[in-house]
Formats: sequence, structure tokens, C-alpha cells
Amino acid sequence: MLRRPPFPRPSAAAVDKARLLLDRALGPSKVITSPDACLNYAGDESDQDPVTPDAVALVSSADDVARALAAASEAEVPIVPRGAGSGKSGGAVPVGGGIVLATIGMKSIKEIDREELVAVVEPGVILGDFHAAVEAEGLFYPPDPNSLKMCAIGGNIAENAGGPRAFKYGVTREYVLGLEATLMDGTRLRTGRRTVKGVTGYDVTSLLVGSEGTLAVFTEATLQLIPKPPGVVTLLALFDTAFSSGRAVSAIIAAGLVPRCLELLDAGALEAVRARGVPVDARAGALLLIEIDGDAASCEAAMERIGEACVSQGALDVLAAQDKAQRDRLWEARRALSPATRAMARFKISEDVVVPRTRLPDLLTEVGRISEETGVRMLSYGHAGDGNLHVNFLWNDPDQGPAVEKGLDRLFRAVIGMRGTLSGEHGIGTSKAEFLPLEQSAELIDLQRRIKTVFDPRGLLNPHKIFPRRGHGVC
Ligand code: LAC
Ligand code: ZN
Repeated sequence: MLRRPPFPRPSAAAVDKARLLLDRALGPSKVITSPDACLNYAGDESDQDPVTPDAVALVSSADDVARALAAASEAEVPIVPRGAGSGKSGGAVPVGGGIVLATIGMKSIKEIDREELVAVVEPGVILGDFHAAVEAEGLFYPPDPNSLKMCAIGGNIAENAGGPRAFKYGVTREYVLGLEATLMDGTRLRTGRRTVKGVTGYDVTSLLVGSEGTLAVFTEATLQLIPKPPGVVTLLALFDTAFSSGRAVSAIIAAGLVPRCLELLDAGALEAVRARGVPVDARAGALLLIEIDGDAASCEAAMERIGEACVSQGALDVLAAQDKAQRDRLWEARRALSPATRAMARFKISEDVVVPRTRLPDLLTEVGRISEETGVRMLSYGHAGDGNLHVNFLWNDPDQGPAVEKGLDRLFRAVIGMRGTLSGEHGIGTSKAEFLPLEQSAELIDLQRRIKTVFDPRGLLNPHKIFPRRGHGVC
């Protein structure tokens, strides 16, 4: 782990008061205070060190949420909303102590309207359960940040989760029509709409989506669905280098093709996949996992043209998955990449930088350079179609920390230099907060801080996230 100074925690008196108020407001069965049990709510899937909260509120309704927020306000302790804890930027980690507000018990799929293509859900619904429910109705909800078996929709909305299908279908924001949300002062708002179109007032829904749990707590979401695509074809294109696979991505896009997924795995990522028992041709030093959906004729035509684009950039082979079992195995391996890379070294940082898609080969070259110059092992994989790459730093020796810091700084500067962005889908959280001034002006950061103050004047809702600690210009 990288060394980062801890944030201040509330006083013992404030903690006692918060626990008492929560007990009174929710009843003891919904409040956890034992450090052992609180430990389960301390961390997420990021490199942020876990921090044990002082209490956990297990809410089961919007009224519970309002009561828990009121308790935090009165005791003046931080309160941190949490879905399934699968986030990748520290968003759900209670870095300043206080209360974790766990919405995972709010699991109702309240409605799936087949005619309007709309669903209404509570925040604790597990994404995979929701996919199964809508697909059983012949409908489709495209977002999947690759953790669908465990992630919760509330967390997906808070982080504006992306994933492999974003290339064709966009990210979570595109599917959130409206929200019910509670503010720190107990105000319950309904934002957005239920209709396909609508431009009334400021787009507060879009502001809340991706606000990383810092503005309001969601208690219900109205989601847009689409018809389930009739067919899917999965292709594997093998390359000798990541650079040539990156060029193939540009060639596919330049040919006007829109597969639903366009995923790249470099040599290090392939090693992780092979280690999971998925055989990949030994000649391959990089791979594109491509998925096309639509009717049989259009899939067939797209498959052909994608194959040509890959071959034009030197693909060693292009193979189609023969059946659903083979396809599922490929995706299982892809889904397992994040935990698999974690198992490859004692320490791991996984970034989610984005560059304009045509700059992807340059980004891959830069990653190779950074690894060489810092001596830190790196590997990359991700949503190449979006220019969004998970650049991973892997190391075992804590003394390599400064080299990793240097590598991160170089990576972010290179990405911004290519007119890219720090985070494509994981959010800023605590992991990238100090780098925000690299991308955004002091004025823009200040405006966002002021927006935060309007929603949460005392800064108790998920503090220390998104914004850097020491003001602008620290980088
Ligand atoms: C993925 C996660 C790490 O794409 O975003 O696997
Ligand atoms: Zn991803």
C-alpha cells in the first residue's frame, strides 16, 4: 500500500452520542457497533486502506435513511453510504470514521414495466439479480461493471459505473431516468422523470449520478430498459503486441463498426488469464475480446468486417466462440481479471484512465516506458473501445512505494497530456483525489465544492472524497 496520512476521526463523546441516537432511531437490531462486526464495512475493492467505522446502520427504508442521517447530523459525525462495497476508488470507505449507512438490505425490484421499458428498484438490488429479472421479461439493462454477481445498483449509480458494454450502450448515467434521494437535512427529493424524454429544470439526476455518495443517499431509482438483443457473437483476436491490438481498435472504430464490447488484454493480463486455467495461444502477446449483438445477419456481416480490420493490423488469428459455454468461459476469465491480478502481487493499484481512442497505442507505449523506468511491474486491460484502460501497478516490496507514486504521477500527466481523463468509471474517491487538479481548474473544483456545501453544509456526508486535501495545485 502507498503511505497516506489518516484523516481525523470524531471524538469519543461524538461517537457515543451517534450510537445512542442510532439505537433510538432505528432500534438496536439495525445498528452494529462491535468492532469485529464493523470491520466487515471497513473496506472496498480499491487500494484505500480499510478504516473500521464506529457504527453501521442497516437501513431498510427511506424513513430509516432519514433517521440515520439525522443521527449523524445531531452527533456531528461523518456518515458514509455503502452498497455492496465493490467500488474501486475508496468511495465507501469511512476514512474519517463515523457511521456507515448500509443500503444493501433495500433489495426490492418494485416494478418492471414492459410497455414503458422502465424499472423501479431500491439501491441494494444486486445487479446480476436485476439483469436476470429484466431478461426474463425479454428486456435488457446494459450496464455491468464486470462485478454483476456482487455489486449493488445504488453503488453503480453513485459511481456512474461503466464496464465492457459501455462502448455501444453507454454507462449507468444513460439509464437513470430519475431518483428518490434523501439529503443530510432529511429532505426527500424526487428528481428526473419516468418518461423517455424530459428537460425540465436543471438535470439534478445527472448531478447525483456519479456523485460518489457525497451529495445525497438514494432510496429508489427509475431505470430505462431496452429490448433484449436477439443474438450475440463473441470474437477473440490474437496479436503479438498490445500496440498492434490498440491499432486494430482504432481500425474497427474508423470502419464505423460498433461492437457492444471491445476489450483489450495485454501480455501481463493474458498471463493472469492463463493462470486461471483459460488456455490462450502461446504466440499471443495481446488479445481483443469483441462482442457483437443484433440479428443473425447483421452479426455475421459485422463479424466479417471486424475480422478484416484486425487482420489489417497484423492479427495472428481471429476466432469466434463456438457456443455459449465457450463464451461464458471467456467472460468468466475477463471478469476474474481484477481479483486475478490482485493475487499476482502483494500490492496492486488499478487505474481506469481514459484517452481519446486514437491515442490508445500511445498510452500502451507510455505504460511500457513507465514500467521500464520505474522498475514496477505493470499490466493493462480494459475497455479499449472507449479508450478506457485499467493500468495496473503490481509490487511486493513496500520500498517500491515511491517508484509506484512516481509511475502514477507520470501516467496521469501523460493521460492529461493526451487530452484524456483520470477516471473512466471507478470514480475519484480517495485514490485519485490528490490528482484532481491535474485535470480540473481551481475554479471548477471550487464550484464543485460549493455545490457540495449546498447539499451538505457541514460536510458530514462521505467526507474526504473527490477533492484534494490541501487545496488546488498540490500536484
Ligand atoms: C473491470 C473493472 C476493474 O473492467 O472495472 O474489470
Ligand atoms: Zn472496467
